[in-house]
Amino acid sequence: MLKLRNLCCASTIVDHEGSSCQSRASSGSNTEHPWEVFTLKQLINATNNFHENHKLGEGGFGAVYWGCTAGGGEIAVKRLKVLTAKAELEFAVEVEVLGRVRHRNLLGLRGYYAGGNERLIVYEYMHNRSLLGHLHGRRPHDVLLDWRQRLRIAFGSASGIAYLHHEAKPHIIHRDIKASNVLLDSKFRPKVADFGFAKLVPEGVSQMTTRVKGTLGYLAPEYAMWGKVSESCDVYSFGILLLEIVSGRRPIEKVAGAGGVRQDIVQWALPLAEGGKWDQIADPRLEGRFDAVQLRNVVVVAVRCTDACPENRPEMRKVMELLLAGIVGESRRVKEVEYWKGEPKVEKKGGDEADDVPTAITQPSFCVPANESTMMR
Ligand SMILES: Nc1ncnc2c1ncn2[C@@H]1O[C@H](COP(=O)(O)OP(=O)(O)OP(=O)(O)O)[C@@H](O)[C@H]1O
Ligand SMILES: [Mg+2]
Repeated sequence: MLKLRNLCCASTIVDHEGSSCQSRASSGSNTEHPWEVFTLKQLINATNNFHENHKLGEGGFGAVYWGCTAGGGEIAVKRLKVLTAKAELEFAVEVEVLGRVRHRNLLGLRGYYAGGNERLIVYEYMHNRSLLGHLHGRRPHDVLLDWRQRLRIAFGSASGIAYLHHEAKPHIIHRDIKASNVLLDSKFRPKVADFGFAKLVPEGVSQMTTRVKGTLGYLAPEYAMWGKVSESCDVYSFGILLLEIVSGRRPIEKVAGAGGVRQDIVQWALPLAEGGKWDQIADPRLEGRFDAVQLRNVVVVAVRCTDACPENRPEMRKVMELLLAGIVGESRRVKEVEYWKGEPKVEKKGGDEADDVPTAITQPSFCVPANESTMMR
């Protein structure tokens, strides 16, 4: 049996060149989301020996299978395809990172198995699979997400990433934010998944240089070109995801009739935003069923997130504030704010309802006319 603790420590050090960051042992004693070390037999039973009919999808790491535990709980099991040093590192980072984070918008780890050539990661099962399928898919169970669902997914994903950047200790850079790594539960609530490329940020370090990982179309320019990684790389990827969510376009698409010329989603959206042609950015499949003001505000946030200069990108917690302000507008209605945040109402004795609303709502600085230079590059 592989010693995960040792492996994780080793991987953390390998992955964080020159960093003094100490890897904490993951704890399965987290009572709300306990995780366990499964036996191979348990997972073979749960997935009917990794039967093709149980396959949910396949990615770079391997195939993902639906399963049902002896206790009746639904799980998703990711099975490593080929055991290489790189894959083993990815496995260790994923288990280590997921085991230490807990947030309603981050995928829950149920456990793992590591023995012989098998590396299996067990997650909570997400009934509506990945956002990618619903934005671009053609499978029968893919649902056309309505405008409100899209905004909720965008905001929830931002919350998950903000937790990684600002609350997790040490801070975590995801490095692979994209539509296929946002999973949706039975109510289409989003959870950010796939931490195999994640990097723990040592205290006091603002930027590191690493080998480039991630997915074309979502990579921040400074990271893609020079391997400079910081939280703002995730902000950039999130900006791409935001544009994808509102427009239904892929991050990179061929330009029609241009002989195979490819255009990224920012190159496509920016001239439209600058020209105030907001409704042309909206996914045509919405058939006009979207809120024009919200659309404009969300696109402005996306434009800021995808600024070529990392220093100009807002931090993730600011992105959340901007999104919330752009979605609920100036209504400052507590119920609305709670809905978007997905939090239960906190009773405040003698408090003004407006006190619960982030201050940014009163100053939606990004709600500027389309032609104002502040939002444009
Ligand atoms: N916890 C889960 N619950 C339900 N479906 C899942 C779960 N995890 C993954 N899937 C499904 O399996 C598919 C493959 O996931 P995986 O993360 O391996 O690959 P990917 O995200 O498509 O690509 P990449 O390897 O680049 O991350 C997902 O797109 C999703 O449909
Ligand atoms: Mg994935």
